[in-house]
Amino acid sequence: MTAIPVRCPGGEYEVVVEPGILGSVGERCVGLLSGRRILMVVDSAVADTHAVQVEDSLVAGGFRVERCTVEADERRKTIETIQDIYQAALKAGLDRHDAILGIGGGLTGDMAGFAAASYLRGIDLVTIPTTLLSMVDASVGGKTGVNLPLPGGDARLGKNLAGAFWQPRLVLADPLVLGTLDDRQRRCGLAECVKHGLIDGPQLLDLIDAGLDAILDADPEAVASLVEHAVRIKVGVVQDDEREQGRRAVLNLGHTFAHAIEPIKPLDLLHGEAVSIGLVAAIGISGELGLLEGDWAADFIGRLERIGLPIRLPRTIATTELIDRMGFDKKIRAGHHTLVVPIRPGHVEIVQDVPEAAIAGAWSSVGAD
Ligand SMILES: NC(=O)c1ccc[n+]([C@@H]2O[C@H](COP(=O)([O-])OP(=O)(O)OC[C@H]3O[C@@H](n4cnc5c(N)ncnc54)[C@H](O)[C@@H]3O)[C@@H](O)[C@H]2O)c1
Repeated sequence: MTAIPVRCPGGEYEVVVEPGILGSVGERCVGLLSGRRILMVVDSAVADTHAVQVEDSLVAGGFRVERCTVEADERRKTIETIQDIYQAALKAGLDRHDAILGIGGGLTGDMAGFAAASYLRGIDLVTIPTTLLSMVDASVGGKTGVNLPLPGGDARLGKNLAGAFWQPRLVLADPLVLGTLDDRQRRCGLAECVKHGLIDGPQLLDLIDAGLDAILDADPEAVASLVEHAVRIKVGVVQDDEREQGRRAVLNLGHTFAHAIEPIKPLDLLHGEAVSIGLVAAIGISGELGLLEGDWAADFIGRLERIGLPIRLPRTIATTELIDRMGFDKKIRAGHHTLVVPIRPGHVEIVQDVPEAAIAGAWSSVGAD
């Protein structure tokens, strides 16, 4: 078992990584949580499997458990779904001492977290991530939130535009749950791991190279080792800057590009796939700005390909449309393009006022016209 401590101003907790840990959730919550009632916010994909194991364990630990099941769909990552969770919490009689437990992918975790942050002005939260992406990224660091409709009758939803920083009391990552996750989603989780590796240095990238087949087969030991390394990197960043006033923004590497393309339906990109293309575009920006050091980029992009992630847009989109879409990203402040730019593995920089021509060049490098 590995327990990674997280110490943020908003709370101290552990991320525990262990195959089979779901069977002891109840024991771990006794003594940690002051209340006896728990509302489980459950990703429908795990409602009949992993959530049952967790619920049984909580009941055996003496908790009164109710459930609210949600669909992992970005179009339903909305205030309306948060309303449903509030109603379920009220119906279950949750008071200030009680807790919400989110079990599912990052989408479910973000919504469960936002509900916990705001219900009765904030109650305890336990997070059980069930995708690789949510284990290594979404469940750690306290970002919660939902998508918002954009103004002016625009049918698109702006990603994560409302939310709160709310640290959980405990995160439990059980690599065994990835056995039910499909192959495409596992590859998506690897996109965020590769991102962490680019931020931190070659060690995690080497670990991915050495264990790729085992990781893609959801081998519990290989996954546990990967998750542990990746979580330590994320924790190292968020502990120093919980509220993203500075350094934490490096975790957005590739994401300003990814958020622009992820909602474009015909592209049919999952979050991790959009991140993969976003990372390549971020390398493109680095080249446009003359900041790339050494010749690591081709090898890095080759790794994304070996994982089975896309490195170019699956169909052509106009650069102007993509730049327009970047305008609704939270990381763009007052019309100035602030981007995270990779210099070399282990060295990324936050660059302000990136010229639009460089952004256009980066989009071209991934196939925009
Ligand atoms: N809060 C953060 O810091 C942060 C960081 C990164 C991403 N995110 C958010 O996370 C979301 C993406 O997370 P994700 O990639 O986990 O996607 P997701 O939550 O949509 O889950 C992916 C799919 O896998 C299914 N699923 C989940 N666990 C499963 C399992 N064990 N077996 C079978 N199916 C399972 C889900 O129902 C869904 O269909 C986005 O909304 C993104 O904005 C948040």
